[in-house]
Amino acid sequence: MSIIITGANGKLGTLIIKHLLEKVPANQIIACVRHPEKAFEYLARGIEVRYCDYDQPESLAEAFVGASKLLLISSSNNNDTIRVRQHAHVIEAAKKAKVEHILFTSFAFLGMGNISPSHLYLATEHAILTSGIPYTFLRNALYTDFVGVLGLNEAITKGELVTYPGNWLFNTVTRNDLASGIAAVLSSPDHTNKTYELTAPRSWSFEELAMILSELAGKPVSYRQDPQVQNWIYGFLNKIDTSSTALDLEILIGGPVATLKESIRPFITP
Ligand SMILES: NC(=O)c1ccc[n+]([C@@H]2O[C@H](COP(=O)([O-])OP(=O)(O)OC[C@H]3O[C@@H](n4cnc5c(N)ncnc54)[C@H](OP(=O)(O)O)[C@@H]3O)[C@@H](O)[C@H]2O)c1
Repeated sequence: MSIIITGANGKLGTLIIKHLLEKVPANQIIACVRHPEKAFEYLARGIEVRYCDYDQPESLAEAFVGASKLLLISSSNNNDTIRVRQHAHVIEAAKKAKVEHILFTSFAFLGMGNISPSHLYLATEHAILTSGIPYTFLRNALYTDFVGVLGLNEAITKGELVTYPGNWLFNTVTRNDLASGIAAVLSSPDHTNKTYELTAPRSWSFEELAMILSELAGKPVSYRQDPQVQNWIYGFLNKIDTSSTALDLEILIGGPVATLKESIRPFITP
């Protein structure tokens, strides 16, 4: 069995391979990367490294030869027209290389959000469905990392977390929990033609975030909404479904996802 992973030098790919190594021998994993010279740690651990660039279709069919499972980690390009083309290159190459099963890191609760970021993922899922290759859609929640742009340390200093008004609820999870769930799917049978919503099982609010900031800082942090707050993140959050929850991730991991307190600790300056 060969499990081939694209985007393997990225943050999610690195964590997926770390979890996968706990479940399958290194010689069953193939890391596909755009910069093989940065993948020396994989080689040192006995993982085969192959060159693959989503913009170079000829590199892809070669890189995917022999794949029992191919994990397409969605491209990080910030132009969605380019990303749609890149994902199409991967799917076409998977077909050419006779990949037995394609898995895709999609986005949670597509179709329930206010769409634009969802279009890319829906288009990619559609292309995979129509390719006829057995598939698994791993619909990732928003990473909890997004809290990094909310000014948490500033909120602690001021004793007040201020956000744009709204009935905000978040189903976010850490990359590490996503990677653990995805590694579980990659290393076990019976996931063919299934879609998993990889979110937290319970959503959290900005009020809860302020309470946790108080606990972590050891001083009160209150919460207030203010229409004067200017931050690009609220426009983005308004376009996706951040509130729906599912149990899929905890079932795959076989335990609870990281708590909000654990997840935001890395964003707090001691
Ligand atoms: N759920 C969320 O909240 C969320 C947030 C941000 C992003 N995402 C999506 O999730 C994906 C994985 O997240 P991440 O944290 O691992 O992102 P990341 O650290 O930026 O990793 C993205 C990976 O994609 C690779 N890549 C980009 N363009 C490529 C190309 N043309 N050909 C081959 N590989 C290419 C990059 O290669 P290099 O190492 O060579 O640059 C990198 O390894 C992102 O790419 C993005 O689509 C999700």
